[in-house]
Order: sequence, then C-alpha cells, then structure tokens
Amino acid sequence: MFAEARLNDGTRALIWDLRPGDREAVREGFEQLSEETRFHRFLAAVPHLTDTMLDHLVDEVDGVDHVAIALVVLDADGTGVPAGVARMIRYSEQRDAADVAVTVIDQFQRRGVATALLGELMRRRPVGIRRLVTTVTADNAASLAMLRRLGPTVAEPAGPNRLDVVVELPSDGGPGGEPGAGSQVEARAAAEDEIL
Ligand SMILES: CC(C)(COP(=O)(O)OP(=O)(O)OC[C@H]1O[C@@H](n2cnc3c(N)ncnc32)[C@H](O)[C@@H]1OP(=O)(O)O)[C@@H](O)C(=O)NCCC(=O)NCCS
Repeated sequence: MFAEARLNDGTRALIWDLRPGDREAVREGFEQLSEETRFHRFLAAVPHLTDTMLDHLVDEVDGVDHVAIALVVLDADGTGVPAGVARMIRYSEQRDAADVAVTVIDQFQRRGVATALLGELMRRRPVGIRRLVTTVTADNAASLAMLRRLGPTVAEPAGPNRLDVVVELPSDGGPGGEPGAGSQVEARAAAEDEIL
C-alpha cells in the first residue's frame, strides 16, 4: 500500500509500509546517520543496529500494534532515494497509547520528510490509539516541534536532558483525515539502497 507525498519544496516522495524484506535496507540506512541523529533517536550512543534491534524494528512490525512506514524521495529520473522511517508501537499495558519514533537521514532533514511521514502514520495508526507517549532528549527541538503539530502536547522533565512527552491525538485521524485515507499509487519506488 503506497501513498504519494510532497516535501516542503514540492519534491515528490513515496511512502510505503515497512516489510520484512527491508531488514538490510534499514541496517544500511542506520549506518548513514550522524552520531547526533542516532543519539536523538535511541537516547543512547548506538554504533550499529544489532540483530535483536532489527528483529524489533523490522520483523516485529505487524500492522496492528506496530505500524512502520518508510519514505523515499523521488529524484529527477524517478529513482527512489530512501530518506526516513516512522513507526508507532502500541503499549501493551496502555492499549490506547503508543510510542512514536521518526528518523530522517541527515541530508534530508528540515525538508518536510518527518511531516510527510507523520501525516501518513496518523492515517495508518493502530486502531484505538488516542495518545502518544514518548521520551525525547530535552535539546531535541526538531522532535518537539514535530510532536506539537500532532495535537495538544505536555512535556515534563524526566531526568537529565530527558522529557516525557504526551500528545493527545485528534479523533479524526489527525492532519490529513481518517485513518487509511492516504492516496495510493501502484508502483513501489526503486529503493535499492538503504532505509532506517
Ligand atoms: C526529528 C526529525 C525526525 C525531524 O525530521 P525533519 O524531516 O527534519 O522534520 P521536518 O522538516 O518535517 O520539520 C518538522 C518540524 O520540526 C522543525 N525542525 C526540524 N528540524 C529542526 C531543528 N533542527 N531545530 C528546530 N526545529 C526543527 C521544523 O521547523 C518543523 O516545525 P514546524 O512544523 O513548526 O515548522 C529529524 O530531525 C531526526 O531524524 N532527528 C533524529 C531522530 C529523532 O530525534 N527522532 C525523534 C525522536 S524519536
């Protein structure tokens, strides 16, 4: 299932569900990230994704409690260049709440990739999710800006350089409309390289 998207400058992009076959692409995409981006994503220094982490990030995506999508930017000749991944994971002990994580390869940051991913993620979010509960580093202005756009947000200190963040989601599926309402295209992007 694919959706079309546009970055801030009008560049075309495609978004699709992450699949088990994307495991190596996720591993390779991670290798492209700066140390700062890795730290902001995982709240720790992570030199490489381990097989256990990849099991969680790729193989455990079930489309029900764990939804993950990837975005490729289409270059001038229509080739897909992987740019970012977003995911939402339902908490087992809080069935109407989910963690959210977005990672954009450094060279594509500040171009609207996360905004496009989150718009689509809201439409595909696990059924029954009413709020997002996550932790970010206190200096992660980009993440806080991104989360605040999704709905009323409360951020509270949670230790050194940590904020616990709760976002109440609008009942209509958030920016872009009802869950599942994303526009579909027929072809998968030629994303031969790497995603994360
Ligand atoms: C956070 C992140 C996903 C944002 O991705 P992005 O594609 O650059 O974001 P966008 O271009 O869609 O911008 C989203 C918002 O963040 C703001 N933003 C982006 N980068 C920013 C920065 N470095 N400083 C301040 N604000 C920033 C944008 O202005 C925009 O806010 P607005 O809608 O109020 O204008 C990206 O910086 C990233 O991958 N960071 C490392 C991993 C991470 O922190 N993930 C989030 C926690 S899991």
